[in-house]
Amino acid sequence: MKLAIIGGSLLGELTNLSRVADERTKTPFGQPSDTFVSGNIADLEVVYFNRHGSSHHLAPHQINYRANMYVLKMLEVTDVIAITAVGGITEKMSPMTWVVPDQIIDYSYGRMQTYNDGNESEVKHIDFSYPFELTLRKKLQTAVETEGMECISLATYGVTQGPRLETIAEIKRMQNDGCDIVGMTAMPEAALARELDINYATLSLVVNWAAGKGDEADQRSEIISMDEIRQRISDGNEIIEKLVHNIVSLYN
Ligand code: HPA
Repeated sequence: MKLAIIGGSLLGELTNLSRVADERTKTPFGQPSDTFVSGNIADLEVVYFNRHGSSHHLAPHQINYRANMYVLKMLEVTDVIAITAVGGITEKMSPMTWVVPDQIIDYSYGRMQTYNDGNESEVKHIDFSYPFELTLRKKLQTAVETEGMECISLATYGVTQGPRLETIAEIKRMQNDGCDIVGMTAMPEAALARELDINYATLSLVVNWAAGKGDEADQRSEIISMDEIRQRISDGNEIIEKLVHNIVSLYN
């Protein structure tokens, strides 16, 4: 059993990892985002990297998801937890809510989606009915609830291309489609993990109301405030290492 934690805007680094190796590996699919830090938390082997790179220079569409997931496979990772900051669309998804989504709708485009396009063998079609792995999702939920916080464990994550945020009409369409939260990175990460037979689940923190959403009592601010997002990311960061510890303790 080997766990990987993928950080991003949230969890920019994992400080409580006792480092044993740093690897920046080239893959047949090109350069991954960052150095992969391996170490232990308690007795579990853990690997960490930041999908945007340690200086946060890669926009969601520029991330080499194939190289990143390939390195995890080379490092014999079995379980991946992806930490993401998202916007809230439906009523319960207010800022600072923790969400463990169970479904995905992918609106991204032009990203390398598969390892199965090498053309030297028959095309493989993976089952993706349930894009996130159930046992991992339960662990994430327990880790959040152990801290006395609510965790919404059924939600559809809509993946947009970014890096810009969405228009109000786009969010309305996504809500009509059944999306509860919106982010930019769950795909193709989740699908590539499935192709590689790696268990994958996402822990999302809502850091803003999506475009045109929000609480009437807040007077529904006209535009999304980046300062508020930054503040919520910073508040989330204070909790998240504790949550990682809780997750790890569920492996023992
Ligand atoms: N839209 C897309 N991705 C996001 C958002 C959003 O409103 N907030 C955080 N990530």
